[in-house]
Amino acid sequence: MSISDEFLKDIQAQRKVGASQKRFSGTFMDYIEHVKKHPDIVKPAHKRLYESVIKYGVSTMPDSDPRKKKIFSNESMKIYDYFKDEFFGMERVVSKLVQYLKSAAHKGEESKQVLLLMGPVGAGKSALTEHIKCVLSGQTYYHLAKDPQRGEPLQLVPRSLRDKFSKKLGVSIEGDISPVVQYRLMNELDGKYEDYPVEESSFSQRGRRGIASVPPMDANSQDTSVLIGSVDISKLDRYAEDDPRALSLNGAFNVGNRGIVELVEIFKNEIEFLHTIITATQEKRIPSPGKSDMLYFDGVIIAHCNESEWNRFQSEHTNEAILDRVVKINVPYCLELDQEVKIYEKLLGQSDFTSHIAPHTLRVASMFSIMSRLKPSGKCDLITKMKIYNGEDIIEKGRVKRIDIEDLREETSREGMSGISTRFIAKALDGALSNSDKNMITPISVIESLTRMIKDQIADEEFKQHCLEIIQKIVREEYLNILENEVAKAFVSAYEEQAQSLFDTYLDNAEAYTTHQKLKDKLTKEEREPDEKFLRSVEEQIGITGSAKDGFRSDVTAYMFAKMRRGEKVNYTSYEPLKEAIESYLITSVKSMARIITKSKTRDDEQQKKYSDMIQTMIDDYGYTGESAEEILAYASNNLWRDS
Ligand SMILES: Nc1ncnc2c1ncn2[C@@H]1O[C@H](COP(=O)(O)OP(=O)(O)O)[C@@H](O)[C@H]1O
Ligand SMILES: [Mg+2]
Repeated sequence: MSISDEFLKDIQAQRKVGASQKRFSGTFMDYIEHVKKHPDIVKPAHKRLYESVIKYGVSTMPDSDPRKKKIFSNESMKIYDYFKDEFFGMERVVSKLVQYLKSAAHKGEESKQVLLLMGPVGAGKSALTEHIKCVLSGQTYYHLAKDPQRGEPLQLVPRSLRDKFSKKLGVSIEGDISPVVQYRLMNELDGKYEDYPVEESSFSQRGRRGIASVPPMDANSQDTSVLIGSVDISKLDRYAEDDPRALSLNGAFNVGNRGIVELVEIFKNEIEFLHTIITATQEKRIPSPGKSDMLYFDGVIIAHCNESEWNRFQSEHTNEAILDRVVKINVPYCLELDQEVKIYEKLLGQSDFTSHIAPHTLRVASMFSIMSRLKPSGKCDLITKMKIYNGEDIIEKGRVKRIDIEDLREETSREGMSGISTRFIAKALDGALSNSDKNMITPISVIESLTRMIKDQIADEEFKQHCLEIIQKIVREEYLNILENEVAKAFVSAYEEQAQSLFDTYLDNAEAYTTHQKLKDKLTKEEREPDEKFLRSVEEQIGITGSAKDGFRSDVTAYMFAKMRRGEKVNYTSYEPLKEAIESYLITSVKSMARIITKSKTRDDEQQKKYSDMIQTMIDDYGYTGESAEEILAYASNNLWRDS
C-alpha cells in the first residue's frame, strides 16, 4: 500500500468514528426531554469547571508522605489529581485555586469575582491557566443554534414560566437570550420558542467555543471590540445600527460565555478596558456593541499579572472598585529542591532533548534557582535553609538540628516572589548542551553555563554578585562534596552490604554498651565486652567525642528498638545521624586510595583495574555514561583533594 493510500484509510476511518459520535440536535422541546433525563447538563460555568477538575480525583496527602510532616507542618493538604503530575511544589496554590472554584460553584461571592494569579515570571501562571482551560476542551455543552454567545437554551423560557420549568426539570434557569437569538425568534420563528433549534458542541479554544484568551494590548490599539465584539460596518448599508444582524459578537466575552475567559497580564491594559471586566463579573452582564441592551454573560474569568504591575495598580485608589472584585492568589516560585528538579525533568521531557544528563545536573541547577529565591536568615546559612525547606534533616554533632521550618518562613515576607526564574534555568540547560560537543550535559557544564548567563543577563549589580556567589561558591562546594562522596562510594565494592553489616555491628555494640551487658558471639557463644574502639571510630565521623557518646548510643538504641517494636524494618539508613556516620566511615576508608588512583597519570595493572571497576560502578549504579564518568573524574582530580 502506498503511503497516501494508507493515510487515506486512516482519514476515512477517523471520519467514520467522528460521524458516529452522535451529538444532540433538535428543537427546544427535544432539549426539554433531554434535560428531564439528564438534568446535570444544565449548570453554570463555575460549577462545570469545578466538577470537571474534581472528577479526576481528590485525596489528602497521606501521613506516610514525609513532605506532610516536614514541609506542611502536618497540615492536611488536599492533592488534586488533575494537577499533580504537571505542577510541582505548588500544592498550596492549586488548593486555593480549587477552593475558589468550589465556592464559586456554590454561587458564593467568588462566582462574581475575577480570579487573579499574581507572581513572578516563570512561576507557572500561564501554564496553570492553560491547564485549567484544557479540562474543558473536548467536553460538550448544549446551546442555542446560531447564537454567537452559545447561550443556555433554557434562557428561552419567559420569566412567568421559569418557576414551573425549574421545578419540573430540577434545574435553575438564569440569564437571557442574546439579541441575535431574540431577532431570529421573532422574525423567523414567529416567537415560537418551542421550535428553536438546539445544538451540542465541544469546548475549544481554537474553535472559539467557550474558551477565550485576551492578550495584553498597547494603549493605541486597545479597543473594547476584542472583549465584546463590534458593529460590522460592512453591514450598515443594509441594516440599521441597532439591528442585531449588524452585530459581530465575536469578542472574548461572547466567545467565552459558558466557559472561561483568560486575561493575560491584565494590568497592562488601560483602565477603561477593565471596566467591562467588572460588569461582566459583578453583574454578569457585558455591554453590547452598538445600541443594544447589555448582554448576559456567565463564565469563569481568570487573569494573571506580575507583582510590580499589581503594586502599581493597587496604589491608585481610583482602582478600588476593581480591586474589590478580585480574588488574588499568589503564585510564588517553587522553594523545594526536590520539586524544582521535577520541573526541569518535565520541561526536558516535553522538549526533544535526547542528550545524556549526567547525575546531579538538574539538582545543581535547581539548587542555584532555589537559593537565589531564598531570603537570608539569622538562624542558618542559605544552603541549610534550602535543605530545611526541602524537608531534609540537618545533622549537627550527631543530633538532628531543630530549626523549625515555620519559624524560618515567618521571618520573611514575599519569599518566592523574586529570584531566578524557571525559564532562566531552562535556557541555561539548553546553553550547556549547545556548548557541548559530546551530546551531554553535566553539573560542570551547567555551572559554567549559569555563570555565563548571570554575567551576561542580570542587570542589577547587587543581585548579579549574589548569584555569582551562590553558583561559584555555595553550589560548587556542595557539588564537590557530593562528588567526593560519590567517587569514594564507587570505590567501595558492594557498598550497601558493607554499610548494612557495619550498621548491624554498631547497633549490637551500642546496645550492649548502653545496657551494660556483654556481647555474645553468634558462633562460639563466647562473651566479650563491647568494642569501644570500633564504636568511637564510627562516632568520630560525625564529630561525637567525649561524653557525648553515651547520649548518642542510647539515642540510637532507643530509636531502633522503638521502630522494631512497631514492626518496622530497620536498616543502615533508618537513623539519619548514624547513616551519615557509617557512610562517612566507609568512604574515609577508601578516600586516599580513590584520590591516588583518580589523580595518577599512569596506573599499574592493579590500579587500572580499580579505576575501570570504579567507572563501571558509576555507569551501572549511578547512571553515568562512560564519557560523562570520565569527564567527572577528570574534574574531580583537578578540583578535589587539593590540599591533601
Ligand atoms: N511549580 C511548577 N511546576 C511545574 N511546572 C512549572 C512550575 N513553575 C514553572 N513551571 C513551568 O515553567 C514554565 C514557565 O512558566 P509560565 O507558566 O510560562 O510562567 P508565567 O506565566 O508565570 O510567567 C512552564 O513551562 C511551566 O510549566
Ligand atoms: Mg505567563
